[in-house]
Amino acid sequence: MHEALNTAGPFAAEIAKLFWIFAGVSAVVYVLVMLFLVYTLRRRAGRGSTPPDAVPPRALRAIGVSLAITGVVLIGLALADFFGNRALASVPADALRIRITAHQWWWELEYLDAIPAHRVMTANHLTIPVGRPVLLELESRDVIHSFWVPSLNGKKDLLPGYTTTLALLASRAGTYTGECAEFCGFQHAHMSIDVSALAPDEFARWLQGQRAEAAEPLDDVQRRGREVYLSSSCRACHAIQGTISAARLGPDLTHLASRPRIAAGALPNDPASLAAWISDPQSIKPGTRMPATQLAAADLSALTAYLGNLQ
Ligand code: CUA
Repeated sequence: MHEALNTAGPFAAEIAKLFWIFAGVSAVVYVLVMLFLVYTLRRRAGRGSTPPDAVPPRALRAIGVSLAITGVVLIGLALADFFGNRALASVPADALRIRITAHQWWWELEYLDAIPAHRVMTANHLTIPVGRPVLLELESRDVIHSFWVPSLNGKKDLLPGYTTTLALLASRAGTYTGECAEFCGFQHAHMSIDVSALAPDEFARWLQGQRAEAAEPLDDVQRRGREVYLSSSCRACHAIQGTISAARLGPDLTHLASRPRIAAGALPNDPASLAAWISDPQSIKPGTRMPATQLAAADLSALTAYLGNLQ
């Protein structure tokens, strides 16, 4: 569920605060205007409908005072907006940097690190530490997308050929759901991004695990699955670290089994969904760039067994 007002960090809280200030002030103004309207109509009804020859000075004074109050209220709202935006634009030092590249229709995530071997590639599920700021570097490979996880911050567009940034800070652990918020083509509605905020030590363990090469097959079926993967068209688009498969057109599959969902949130990550997705992706996400792969039933189940072991 997307909950912009159920905030999990200071950036989203800043936006929620602005929402309540604007909603509260607007509600008070609305009620006051309606009360004055009713009062005026009643007075006029009591006096008959002949308008006076000239505007009485008392009415002029009332108009002047109303205009002044309106001006003060508008300036107050503009200031609240200005300071809210400043708080959102502050880029925290010592932030964890993650590059997010949007594709039609999935998210490529790269945890940046000065040591190249420590970089981590994953997709569609962002894992961050609680209490440490994260700076997202947002790019797009094709059209304009928009990153939006309402519990953590507002929307930010991902533009082809230009890098934008967005800061996140989760103050409590949990999983927060998000979506692409800019119409980006056929499967715009199937472009989810979920964020798991983990305690710092748990996050460190997760990151360490993601840096490792892919798990070795545990049995003959999984070994057969790896052969199927490496000898079919899968490796033309995907990468599995530790094998000869290193393409970057589709999501990195090195730790596929550690992600709760596949196809950018369209399906749960289980053997049946994997098999359906591999053999006929167009029936699940029409227009997806992933081509169908025809495999014998035994090969397909060996392949899903192998992928299911890539924790
Ligand atoms: Cu990507 Cu809408």
